[in-house]
Amino acid sequence: MAIYPIRTFPDPVLSMPASNVMEFDADLARLVEDMFETMYDAPGVGLAAPQIGIPKRLFVADAGDGPFVMANPEIVETSGKWKFEEGCLSVPGRYWMIKRPDYARAEGLDVDGNPVTYEGDELMGRVLQHEIDHLHGKLLLTRLPQRVRRVALAELRDEALGHRRV
Ligand code: NI
Repeated sequence: MAIYPIRTFPDPVLSMPASNVMEFDADLARLVEDMFETMYDAPGVGLAAPQIGIPKRLFVADAGDGPFVMANPEIVETSGKWKFEEGCLSVPGRYWMIKRPDYARAEGLDVDGNPVTYEGDELMGRVLQHEIDHLHGKLLLTRLPQRVRRVALAELRDEALGHRRV
């Protein structure tokens, strides 16, 4: 077991589309264990592989009903609307009220390569959408209204530059 450092904005790995998991082997099982350990240590309710610098379509999550993992997931259905103050381990300390569909259903594969479906509303629906966005190279910033996003990006870039000067 190992805890990975979490990549933060503007690390380019966070804006790259990830590629499908092809090998469902012992290395993948170990990576998934390490991702759970990293997520719970952070602590967070979800962690996508690009957030630890691995551009694979893989995430782990625990929205309160226990841990689960999805490889190569896709959102197959959404409905409703829900406003929620959303954060991301890759944009630490920042939260924005973001409106997204309330309910989401995702299909993908488990750690052994078997088909799995997860679904839910409120936090579960949000986690599925947020983590699958990561696999498309999309941070929650892309879900902000344009004007809010422009301000947020400017602030985050300033912070990133400030951190480099330390
Ligand atoms: Ni995130």
